[in-house]
Amino acid sequence: MQKLKGKVAIITGSSRGIGRAIAERLARGGASVVLSSRTKTALDEVVREIQVQGGSASAIALDLRLPDAPARLAEFALKTYDRIDIVVNNAGATKRGEFAQLSDEDWADGFALKFFGAVRLIRAAWPSLKASSGSVLNISGAGGRTPGAAFTIGGSVNAALLSLTKALAELGIRDGVQVNTINPGTVRTGRLQLRLAEIMKQKGIDLLEAEKEFIRSPSITRIGEPEDIAGLAAFIVGPEGRFLQGALIDMDGGSTKTI
Ligand SMILES: NC(=O)c1ccc[n+]([C@@H]2O[C@H](COP(=O)([O-])OP(=O)(O)OC[C@H]3O[C@@H](n4cnc5c(N)ncnc54)[C@H](OP(=O)(O)O)[C@@H]3O)[C@@H](O)[C@H]2O)c1
Repeated sequence: MQKLKGKVAIITGSSRGIGRAIAERLARGGASVVLSSRTKTALDEVVREIQVQGGSASAIALDLRLPDAPARLAEFALKTYDRIDIVVNNAGATKRGEFAQLSDEDWADGFALKFFGAVRLIRAAWPSLKASSGSVLNISGAGGRTPGAAFTIGGSVNAALLSLTKALAELGIRDGVQVNTINPGTVRTGRLQLRLAEIMKQKGIDLLEAEKEFIRSPSITRIGEPEDIAGLAAFIVGPEGRFLQGALIDMDGGSTKTI
């Protein structure tokens, strides 16, 4: 059954990885999806793929770090489909590395995309979400609750998103807008392949051994797939997840040990 039929969903960072999987999953659920990232060719391919499967999709290429880009994205969705029901803030690309080597620009860049991009898109879409009794879903990250020296920027950005989620969830009670967050743990996307390649090089081992090594130290069940996160996203923004409000859900194979 198409539980999202008639809904319009914006998904940021949807040209690949988790965002693409969420877009495809929501489209299979019957939603018309609005895709966005910086790369037009990659977006067009995802749009085509969704349309071939019988779904409805359109895309706009934008750099969401630019202050006016989120509002342009919301306008594009309204112009194309005349309503907005779901906003998934997924785009993010924070730099990892030694704290002392990370510059002000690195920090500003990380916050510009994942935090301010989300703030600005939610603000631009809120009146439409209020009108449609819609839903905001932020894709944060396990590092928000479990910070680490190797990802000071990512952890801080994700923690800020968790706080924003709780605050806007309260506003959402007043305005009839659902607001929640998923914290993915390690998920098999292009970013993970780069980290595995580093381990292979450092230890002189093959990919299979690198994956085993990777899941041994933080003790997790397995590496996640983008579709794992997409399935939970579809549940949260669908009718069965509607009672969730201000929830910060860890989907991470057990890596988060805090309560
Ligand atoms: N994968 C994981 O293990 C993991 C774990 C925890 C949290 N997360 C979070 O989950 C989200 C998705 O991660 P992912 O691994 O799927 O990432 P990914 O494969 O690197 O995809 C990132 C997406 O964001 C887009 N993007 C990057 N910079 C952008 C910009 N300036 N403006 C607009 N779009 C931009 C990318 O497209 P373009 O490059 O074409 O713009 C792409 O569509 C991120 O917020 C990440 O922090 C991921």
